[in-house]
Amino acid sequence: MKIKLIILLILSLQACSDKAKSRQQGELLFYRVHIGKNNVIGCISCHSLKTDIKTTGPSLFAIGLRAGKLIEGVSAKDYLQQSIINPDAFIVSGYSPAIMFAHYQDELTETEINSLVTFLQSLK
Ligand code: HEC
Repeated sequence: MKIKLIILLILSLQACSDKAKSRQQGELLFYRVHIGKNNVIGCISCHSLKTDIKTTGPSLFAIGLRAGKLIEGVSAKDYLQQSIINPDAFIVSGYSPAIMFAHYQDELTETEINSLVTFLQSLK
C-alpha cells in the first residue's frame, strides 16, 4: 500500500517537473524575435505580455485566465493551440484576420507548440 503511494508521489512529481520544463521552454520561445525552421517572426514582435499594451496583436496579459472563457465549449488549451496553429479560427474583437503569422504549424515542432500553450496557460 505504502509503496503504491510512494510511486504515485514520484510520478506526480515527475509530471510537475515536465510541466515546469515545458513552460520554461515556451517562455524562452515566446521572447525570441525569430523562431522556427526558417527564422520567421516571433510572438513577442506582435504581442506584449503587459496589460493594455496593444501592438500589432492584442496583449496576452493574463491570457491563461481568459482563454477558456472566450469561445463556448472550447477549453483554454484548445483555444490557445488553435490561436497559434490556425490564427483565423477565432478572431479577437477589434482585430482583423490574416495579420498573425499563419504557418507556425510548419515552422515549430509539436513540442514547441505545446510548450507555448503551457506557457500562455500559466499567465494568470
Ligand atoms: C505578425 C503579428 C503576429 C505574430 C508574429 C503573432 N501574432 Fe498572435 N495575434 C496577432 C493578431 C493580429 C491577433 C488578433 C487576431 C486574431 O485573433 O487572429 C493575434 C491573436 C493571438 C492570440 C489570441 C489572443 C486573445 O486575446 O484571444 C494568441 C493566444 C496569440 N495570438 C498567440 C501568439 C503566439 C504564441 C505567437 C508566436 C508563436 C503569435 N501569436 C505570433 C498577431 C501576431
